[in-house]
Amino acid sequence: MKNEGQNPTGSFKDRGMTVGVTEAVALGRERVICASTGNTAASLAAYAARAHLECVVLVPAGGVAQGKLAQAYFEGARIVGLRGSFDDAMNVVVDTADRLDAYVLNSINPYRIEGQKTAAFEVFEQLGGNVPDWLMCPVGNGGNLAAYWKGFQELKALGATERLPRLVGVQAEGAAPIADAILEGREEIRPVEKPETVASAIRIGNPANWRKTVRAIRGSGGLALKLPDPLLVEAQTQLAREEGIFVEPASAASVAGAMRLAREGTLRSEETVVCVCTGHGLKDPEAALRERVEVAVVEPTVKAILSALGGSRR
Ligand code: F0G
Repeated sequence: MKNEGQNPTGSFKDRGMTVGVTEAVALGRERVICASTGNTAASLAAYAARAHLECVVLVPAGGVAQGKLAQAYFEGARIVGLRGSFDDAMNVVVDTADRLDAYVLNSINPYRIEGQKTAAFEVFEQLGGNVPDWLMCPVGNGGNLAAYWKGFQELKALGATERLPRLVGVQAEGAAPIADAILEGREEIRPVEKPETVASAIRIGNPANWRKTVRAIRGSGGLALKLPDPLLVEAQTQLAREEGIFVEPASAASVAGAMRLAREGTLRSEETVVCVCTGHGLKDPEAALRERVEVAVVEPTVKAILSALGGSRR
């Protein structure tokens, strides 16, 4: 598992944002902007704060996890909630940027991809100079998967590896235009009008980088999966309980995908499989707590505590 929740703002977005904001500074820009489901906003706000740039973030009102909003707020971003989806925010970000004289730092910005591709170099390094057989990755806009592919291809071009991993893009069933196009063998995606999933980070119906992502998956001989929310939550729970690693629901898509492919016999036990877990679980406590947390509240006595836990063990 490649735990990207360990990055400074708790998601993989920091890799591209440090490069993108550095470029904004080099260009002499004073203002940056993005549309976001939350993590891009939190990351951009942090790097913009450090660079003393003004930061504007456009988010779907009510569609962003509290942890991410709190980050962007404390990092001083101007947050505008839109009555609409992330896709609506993406539709207006370039024109808004133009009017505000702001530099756009969504993953349509090539410097983002340049930063994000370093994750592929790290995976290679951490596997002792090898590429994995499979790389599983959650897919929203598709920038991350495309960046991994660029990184691995550059390693090959440099002669560091002859092999390339097969890439698996995993989407949530209710927001799966890329997976649908691949599974149905179509050239073009059909945007999803009203994307729905518990994984708010990847609640995206019209992904900006779909062409690059489809090319990466097909070019690597890989696969696309779309998985229902309960499988994402199951993987999220299992990862926390068996490994002690708490990720947000979108992140768990990669693990859920690996579980599915292992069960089907597609992944073999001698193969190396890397699951990219894209964001920290603390970002989205509502999703974690939504269904099933029951906390017993008792008097502060040993007797009451033991009784709540089913009695003494000795
Ligand atoms: N996982 C997490 C935790 C994300 O925040 C995102 C994207 C993805 C996966 C998908 O990555 O878009 O490169 O395919 N979040 C964006 C945002 C949309 O605004 O934070 P992708």
